[in-house]
Amino acid sequence: MTKSKKKTDRSEKIYLFDSTLRDGEQTPGARLNYEEKLEVARQLARLGVDIIEAGFPISSPGELKAVRAIADQVKGPTICALARAVQGDIDAAWEAIKNAERPRLHVFLGASDIHMEHKLKKDPEVLLEQAVEAVKYAKHYCPDVEYSPEDASRARDAYLFRLLEAVIKAGATVINIPDTVGYAVPEEFGAQIKRIKDNVVGIDKVIISVHCHNDLGLAVANSLEAIKNGARQIECNINGIGERAGNAALEEIAVALRIRGNHFPYFTDINYGEIYRTSRLVSKLTGISVPVNKAVVGLNAFAHSSGIHQDGILKNKETYEIIDAELIGGKAAQMCLTARSGRHAVIDQLKKLGFSLNRSELEGIYQLFLNLADRKKEVYPEDLEALILDHLSYAEPRYKLDYLQTVSGSTSIPSAVIRLKKDDDSLIEEVAIGSGPIDAAYNAINKITGLSIGLEKYKIDAVTQGRDALGEVQVELAYQDRKITGRGTSTDIIEASVKAYLNGLNKLMRLNGCT
Ligand code: KIV
Ligand code: ZN
Repeated sequence: MTKSKKKTDRSEKIYLFDSTLRDGEQTPGARLNYEEKLEVARQLARLGVDIIEAGFPISSPGELKAVRAIADQVKGPTICALARAVQGDIDAAWEAIKNAERPRLHVFLGASDIHMEHKLKKDPEVLLEQAVEAVKYAKHYCPDVEYSPEDASRARDAYLFRLLEAVIKAGATVINIPDTVGYAVPEEFGAQIKRIKDNVVGIDKVIISVHCHNDLGLAVANSLEAIKNGARQIECNINGIGERAGNAALEEIAVALRIRGNHFPYFTDINYGEIYRTSRLVSKLTGISVPVNKAVVGLNAFAHSSGIHQDGILKNKETYEIIDAELIGGKAAQMCLTARSGRHAVIDQLKKLGFSLNRSELEGIYQLFLNLADRKKEVYPEDLEALILDHLSYAEPRYKLDYLQTVSGSTSIPSAVIRLKKDDDSLIEEVAIGSGPIDAAYNAINKITGLSIGLEKYKIDAVTQGRDALGEVQVELAYQDRKITGRGTSTDIIEASVKAYLNGLNKLMRLNGCT
């Protein structure tokens, strides 16, 4: 559907601000590497979000580098970077996004009594002045400045209104009202947005945005209520991931606006057909599975198991189905490839899956495809996608698997021989025993690295169906105070387990700066 068709005389645009790469990445264990962040950002652009909050550049040099790459390379959406209301943060954020087609600086500072008194320990008037100075400073770099009074849903009206008036006067173009702790309920939150719209001088010159957390499971409801009361930008994340219980789920907001258009006379510029693919990409790269009963993108969202429901669906889909899976790209044509499929067919399928790879990456993936097609008769789009994601998260690894042999059985002691190749090309081999072949392999890896890494979670799924399906393993590793997810795929589940462990280990080592 074209943009002009979506807009009608009666409808207004809702801007979708995606914070999957910032608030979403704050989900425990959901760290993404440079390549993974870029891949998610490219897919968000294909999805048609209006604004990508690419990260929090002051948090680390690696974060700044990834945000800068997104700003330089991803065209279409506004690229936004987050900063606390201090010059150093704003300098780093601007440094990261200054080359974006449409840059935005997002500045925040606590505004509720509890944040000001206990976290910031400063007088509200001093903080108000700090907010104004920060917005002015951001504005001297960038015409588009968003201001967020953190914990606004628990702030006092009188203070909040004065603060908002002051930051608007200082140049803010978007005023974001966060329900930082997910405390608000819809009627109350909607009424707060209405009071802001009715009382804050200058509010008609800026966009009102909301940013709802899901601690009470109300993030989407609160966002929709805010729209009814004047919000025109919604901050949301793919699959609803985010700090603690997460943020409002982008796909739920977009689909609710579309399906209940009679209730919400608004439109978005989302390409609905990209929703399902984006959800899967984010889930695979972050290692955060989508619950099967998750609205819109869960595996069961379109499944009907009761006989009565199935009978109704066969007679008329509308009896039990309000969303057609086709709308979100859930029934994309499945072409299966074999070892005889030429390079062209593979490249074509990769393009359909939305991956923009350069010539040498395409060649690398094609060789991986050939290896897989030797082991597995039919290669489905999901298999190909898993290969690429594996390849991406293996970029610049400290350790690569060179050789693996395990022994197990009802009467033998499980053991593993592992040889890893380090990034300086040296080879290191170790033998270990364990409670099973996977445990033995993990013990051998720990011997090689000399690190005692804890395995917190282990999960295995089949990517497609059949006895020769690719096995996909996800692990959660713990080292010192960090937790990280790793992912690996192979037709051999022990190899997939080792790859997942190495994937997580390499991420941990990069984050901890280990050698
Ligand atoms: O939840 C929150 O308040 C935030 C702000 C930085 C917008 O994430
Ligand atoms: Zn947040």
